[in-house]
Amino acid sequence: MDAEASEKIIAHLDLDAFFASVEEVYRPWLKDKPIAVGSDPQDGHGRGVVSTANYKAREYGIHSALPISHAWRLSEQAKKQGKEPVTFLQPNFALYKKVSENVAKVIMRHSADIEQASVDEFYFDLTAAGTFTAAEKICADIKKEIKKTEKVTCSIGIAPNKYIAKIAAGFKKPDGLYVVTPENVLKFLAPLNIRDIPGIGPKTAEIFYKKNIKTIMELRQFSETELKTLVGKHGIGIYQMARGIGSTEIIYERQAKSIGEQTTFDYDSLEAGHILNVYQKLCGSVFASFTRTDFTAFKTITVTVRFSDFQTQNKSHTLKTPIAKTNKKQFEIEALKLLLPFLDKRQNPKRKPIRLIGVRIEKLI
Ligand code: TTP
Ligand code: MG
Repeated sequence: MDAEASEKIIAHLDLDAFFASVEEVYRPWLKDKPIAVGSDPQDGHGRGVVSTANYKAREYGIHSALPISHAWRLSEQAKKQGKEPVTFLQPNFALYKKVSENVAKVIMRHSADIEQASVDEFYFDLTAAGTFTAAEKICADIKKEIKKTEKVTCSIGIAPNKYIAKIAAGFKKPDGLYVVTPENVLKFLAPLNIRDIPGIGPKTAEIFYKKNIKTIMELRQFSETELKTLVGKHGIGIYQMARGIGSTEIIYERQAKSIGEQTTFDYDSLEAGHILNVYQKLCGSVFASFTRTDFTAFKTITVTVRFSDFQTQNKSHTLKTPIAKTNKKQFEIEALKLLLPFLDKRQNPKRKPIRLIGVRIEKLI
């Protein structure tokens, strides 16, 4: 946490319905039609999830992480009611990355301190603008430039620190611009749900809901010690954030902590040939992503397996000698050693069919 938090001006930009908006730009005939980007719905038998839906498709109840089969049913229902059916598209990550880079370039023309927090999210420091009014003008210009060059809209929040800027960006979505000045911080936060505080996930929220605490205002009745007792070490951060205090630190080069991918099989399987075939492609793709980074080696490999009953297990191995970009074979062998026990009784005594596999490399050097 930063003692100078109240003196900073921080902005958070989040693109609206990102993957779907980019698809609309590249397929103009889909403009104003409902779109869901995600795995292949296969006439309702598809097994993955929705990555995102545009706002038209959200009106049908389709959203990120919804099973694609469910999204398909909602589209079929809409069709029966005479509404436009949903267009399902598979993601084109290279395209989204390009747009994301272009958006970063627009921001960089206005701020030297920028942090990319995800594929469609950026924090940047506008303290140099001097006032919140000046920062708001800059952000209006950034929105205009992005609209003009990339043809997509975004929402921006401006606040004295990062987490409030992020909440503010979500406050007027889509195409929003919302400013929370230092004098308005406490009033702005008061009525919001405690879940808006970073670090209060569903489990922590449940602890407070049981005590009939729902808003950030209500959270302020606890002392720091009481919060620590209730939720552990996160209590300190929660105490501060309930009072508007949070980090302002812009981390320019956010290092990728890991690179990984996962795949849901078309059908649950324990057929070694099939699983290993898919796994090899997965490993190849992860290694290819690694070779495109500036990292030179990595030390940890993690395998994820989800069984047909949705039970999910991870297994990691950290190597004494890091694996370099020239050592794809070694990576494949190590990754295989981690997966094989899940195919037999060592890690799968009940011989459950497998639904999903994933592989991830960590401790990048
Ligand atoms: P978000 O910014 O969370 O969502 P969004 O941009 O689609 O919509 P919003 O207008 O609410 O900001 O995520 C950015 C992209 O990341 C999103 O377009 C697709 C991808 N994504 C997934 O692949 N899976 C997910 O569960 C989520 C939440 C996002
Ligand atoms: Mg977004």
